[in-house]
Amino acid sequence: MFEVIEREKLVPNLHLLTVRAPQIVETIKPGQFVIFRSDEKAERIPLSVADWDREAGTLTTVFMVVGASTEKLSSLKTGDTVPTVVGPLGRPTEIDNFGSVVCIGGCYGMGSLFPTIKALDAKGNDITVVYEARSHNLLYWADKVAPFCSRFISITRDGSSGFKGHIDKSVEILDIIDLKPDRVIANGCTFSVYKAAKDYARYDVPIIVSLNTIMIDGTGMCGVCRVTVDNKMKFACVDGPDFDGRRVDWEELFKRRKQYLNEEAFLVHNSGCGGIK
Ligand SMILES: Cc1cc2nc3c(=O)[nH]c(=O)nc-3n(C[C@H](O)[C@H](O)[C@H](O)COP(=O)(O)OP(=O)(O)OC[C@H]3O[C@@H](n4cnc5c(N)ncnc54)[C@H](O)[C@@H]3O)c2cc1C
Ligand code: FES
Repeated sequence: MFEVIEREKLVPNLHLLTVRAPQIVETIKPGQFVIFRSDEKAERIPLSVADWDREAGTLTTVFMVVGASTEKLSSLKTGDTVPTVVGPLGRPTEIDNFGSVVCIGGCYGMGSLFPTIKALDAKGNDITVVYEARSHNLLYWADKVAPFCSRFISITRDGSSGFKGHIDKSVEILDIIDLKPDRVIANGCTFSVYKAAKDYARYDVPIIVSLNTIMIDGTGMCGVCRVTVDNKMKFACVDGPDFDGRRVDWEELFKRRKQYLNEEAFLVHNSGCGGIK
């Protein structure tokens, strides 16, 4: 059993969860993920690792409540235990001295990008962080991320903090300051990373997106996380989750993510969790 050290609501609908998992923390790297189960009967939930403390043996994730299983995770309290935390899973994000790197985080993506931003900073990259949210009250960890980047561009859809707009606004800003990225890295919900891949395609540089396909085992056995990249079949759990967004078959990915929508809606309706947020 894994002890819950902290579970805190960061902003509406986004929670931080820290558990003690010393064996996983020993080898975890930026961009990897773990699979949680909140109880013996719960679904397996893949979550990217947002931070860790090797001395304390703890790992932290930031998650969004979207359905029945994440709703269950959001009700955990300090001192509770969860039966399953499996990891580290997936390939780590490639870290090197790339030059100018734009890191784009939407919804839970700013949490999962934090280890990558720190590691890129340690390699001497010039980092521009683009933080995208619907409104000012959904921005979190800005103070944690800002020390590791040269530029911090905050964008809200309603204009209540930073610039008004979506990810394409950041491309306009880069144009104004005449900054051409050598690499783009995007984390967050599927629509955010898809948008980053489309909006940044004009630069003709790698656009590394972390894909959150539906997963079951997370070890390449079930095939549920199948994606097509560069016209080849890949499993997001073992070949990814990072892929070059310019090569992803987005239409197929969006279709496959919706395949259990009816079952998910049924589960939410019958779990008393109050609906998909
Ligand atoms: C590698 C990876 C890393 C991820 N990291 C994070 C993270 O750091 N923070 C975060 O908030 N979310 C993350 N996700 C997505 C998260 O796993 C899903 O939101 C969660 O499983 C939904 O479960 P649910 O029962 O609450 O919702 P459901 O009602 O089951 O589904 C709601 C939505 O989540 C999608 N979904 C359902 N089951 C899965 C599944 N097993 N895997 C992926 N998507 C699923 C569905 O397509 C649907 O769109 C990640 C997914 C992957 C694959
Ligand atoms: S989750 Fe089963 S093969 Fe990837």
